[in-house]
Amino acid sequence: MNKSGKIGVFDSGIGGVTVLSEIMKILPKENYLYYSDSKNNPYGDKTDEEIKQLCDNIVQYFIEKDCKAIVIACNTASAKAAQCLRKKYPNIPFIAIEPAYKMVYDYAYSKPTLVMATKGTIHSEKFNLLLKKYDNHKTYLLSCVGLADKIEQGNKEEIRKYLKETLSSYKNEVENVVLGCTHYPLIQEEIEEILGQVQFFNGAPNLAQYLKKILQDNNLLTNGQGIVEFEDSQELEEKKRRFFEILRERENSNENIKK
Ligand code: DGL
Repeated sequence: MNKSGKIGVFDSGIGGVTVLSEIMKILPKENYLYYSDSKNNPYGDKTDEEIKQLCDNIVQYFIEKDCKAIVIACNTASAKAAQCLRKKYPNIPFIAIEPAYKMVYDYAYSKPTLVMATKGTIHSEKFNLLLKKYDNHKTYLLSCVGLADKIEQGNKEEIRKYLKETLSSYKNEVENVVLGCTHYPLIQEEIEEILGQVQFFNGAPNLAQYLKKILQDNNLLTNGQGIVEFEDSQELEEKKRRFFEILRERENSNENIKK
């Protein structure tokens, strides 16, 4: 791998911006190529085979574009495709996000916990192994069908309505919320409007640290200009505009996981 290559980051849409912004806080000198697969969004309801194929196409694109490492900034794609991508492309490091359920075990084991994720993630073998290993026996699982899509559309009223319907019964029941989809850190405020104050768990800061370590260990760190390129599979200008707007907002905030 070429150390001056870019880091490829992808998601089914712009949600992975929540991962990229954490990465850029600690790796500001790397150059990035972000791929938003809005043509095939949402991934949450697709079959394993469909997701593997879509991810494979994106990886081939990243390799053509000289990417030196690939971040799967989508929990659903990580759960369903990371293993087979690593097998097929052993020479490129893959860094995959997963719901931060182990952090609950490490930092807030005794508290009732809600895991919010796509149906695909909640039912995946990978997530169920994680759950079994770190089960705090006070955990509710919630498949948020259609939520990532609403966040992708950006209609706050629709999002609030959805959250009211799906989350109200957990008010006063849960203290921890695992954001098991990379779109969900974008609606923390709206989640707290329904649940009251909760402790959020997001895997992105740890993923960023892990990526840094992988680049260091493989002598792949570079001293570039921190350029971010954006591609969308539907070439939607509106997506691009919102992506950079959110990226700028998050870059300027020091918001991190509340401990
Ligand atoms: N952002 C994605 C995730 O982390 C997927 C959302 C979707 O396309 O369903 O799971």
